[in-house]
Amino acid sequence: MSNKEGYIGVFDSGIGGLTVAGSIMKSLPNENIIYFGDTAHLPYGTKSEKQIREYALNDVTFLSKFDLKALVIACNTADSVAKGTLEEQFDIPIYGVIEPASHMAARTTKNNRIGVMATAATVRSQAYTRTIHWYNDQAEVFSLACPLLVPLVENGRYRKDDIVVTTVLQEYLDQLLVHDVDTIVLGCTHYPLLMDAISSLVPDLNIISSSEAAAETLRRSLIEQDLLKETPGSTRRYYVSDDPDHFHENAVLFLGDEIQAEAELVRV
Ligand code: DGL
Repeated sequence: MSNKEGYIGVFDSGIGGLTVAGSIMKSLPNENIIYFGDTAHLPYGTKSEKQIREYALNDVTFLSKFDLKALVIACNTADSVAKGTLEEQFDIPIYGVIEPASHMAARTTKNNRIGVMATAATVRSQAYTRTIHWYNDQAEVFSLACPLLVPLVENGRYRKDDIVVTTVLQEYLDQLLVHDVDTIVLGCTHYPLLMDAISSLVPDLNIISSSEAAAETLRRSLIEQDLLKETPGSTRRYYVSDDPDHFHENAVLFLGDEIQAEAELVRV
């Protein structure tokens, strides 16, 4: 198999990384994709760095059995804590979600005041703050852990007319708005589903989805390396470490009706 035909491996702590996989499928429809969701260990965002690193190493060890031409860490928490370790251990080009979203935020803010919504582990790592500063040393970054949002989305509660969703979001957004931010990064896989609800609460703010930014960076990089798959049609395979039925039922939230994501169970 030539490298162009190789898989893009995508992993997350569970189902949320499908927002990233979905963005990749939209911008690179011919690519072969292999997705692994570590549903047995979800959530990562509340765990220690050591534990998250261990899980991420196991995830990539599983994916590296396939012929991969690229690996995407579709989990902000794993990216913030484990990307360096994965790069040391695996000889595969590794793409994250934090770098592309930080770059976009750093470029598009007008007042250099950027809010980041993420899990507790991502906020603790300060990965967004460091990366945004690397691109824009004038920027002030205000990061906020939003632990109620992943469980809400996992339970199908993300719509803009849902009073529970808007109440929780408003409370979080108020904590960023006091800092006069003009840009907010959705620094967690689940938050792109809340895009409509967030945009309707703060219509004048620049909202950046890490999923779309990551897909665009991957697309440009594959073009630059002449690694785009040229043959039509694509293979998509899904694996989880627990409860494939739950994955299948809920994948529709993240990928839409048109994609059927039947997952196989693997132990990692
Ligand atoms: N995938 C995680 C992230 O993007 C959210 C879910 C979790 O905590 O595992 O940070």
